[in-house]
Amino acid sequence: MTVQSVLTLGIRALQTADIDGAARDARLLMAGALGIDVSRLTLALHDDIDPPCQDRFDAFIAQRLLHRPVSRILGTRLFWGRSYHLTDDVLDPRGDTETLIAAALEHAGDRILDLGTGSGVIAITMAAERPTAKVVASDISKSALDVAQKNARDLGVADRLSFVQGSWFDAVTGRFDLILSNPPYISDAEMRDLAPEVLGYDPHIALTPGGDGLDPYRIIARHAPDVLTPYGAVIVEIGHAQAADVTQIFKSAGFSKLRVHTDFEQKDRLITAKM
Ligand SMILES: C[S@@+](CC[C@H](N)C(=O)[O-])C[C@H]1O[C@@H](n2cnc3c(N)ncnc32)[C@H](O)[C@@H]1O
Repeated sequence: MTVQSVLTLGIRALQTADIDGAARDARLLMAGALGIDVSRLTLALHDDIDPPCQDRFDAFIAQRLLHRPVSRILGTRLFWGRSYHLTDDVLDPRGDTETLIAAALEHAGDRILDLGTGSGVIAITMAAERPTAKVVASDISKSALDVAQKNARDLGVADRLSFVQGSWFDAVTGRFDLILSNPPYISDAEMRDLAPEVLGYDPHIALTPGGDGLDPYRIIARHAPDVLTPYGAVIVEIGHAQAADVTQIFKSAGFSKLRVHTDFEQKDRLITAKM
């Protein structure tokens, strides 16, 4: 069989199961099975497929039929132009979080803290984009920190990152010009509406802190003033309906300069807070 005919069968299987973006996903999975970049796939379509590649592709399609996201099946995710290793222990980084990077790069300062680092995308991107930066990355999950450390080594910035395990600020020492966080912020009520790709595969601890979803912001707003340098900024990612609540939380904690940023879809996505 040719690559094209096996690919067509894969696309049909995904379409029959109503998987969104069936053709795009099957192409990515076929490229992964063949071990080539997806941009080269068209050139391989008329080749005969090797049985081991076909077996790999069939196994990938079987996982996608169970709603496992393509990034998790292939074990990699692109973020700010770099490729990150993913495991089941970390959130699959979202494109929305690149909005946080764009906002953070507008602020001067080399001492950076990333709270809830997960795969390390925020901490590592800041270290890579700002060669003088020193970044502390914290997470409560030891297995997430292992993934972040591997990514930092693979991307050549491990010497300027330190990783600490603990709840939010518990294991953090020092002062910071920038405190960044994409915390878990989905409320109990919203958890029910998540897509199976999210609910079934992102770690629960990375999605929700429980209750109204706002507790991480309460903790960050309360403790950040103790470790922020005088002109420092806190930048947190938020759910698109949380801007008013999170703004109020930071105001109540003594922050006076607050700005809400929107993402590429013009939805509220970040809050920048300064004292
Ligand atoms: C939404 S994920 C963000 C991961 C990564 N920064 C990103 O943007 O892709 C939230 C992260 O916060 C971590 N987390 C959850 N509760 C925490 C806590 N109490 N203290 C520190 N980190 C926590 C989770 O383990 C997870 O890695």
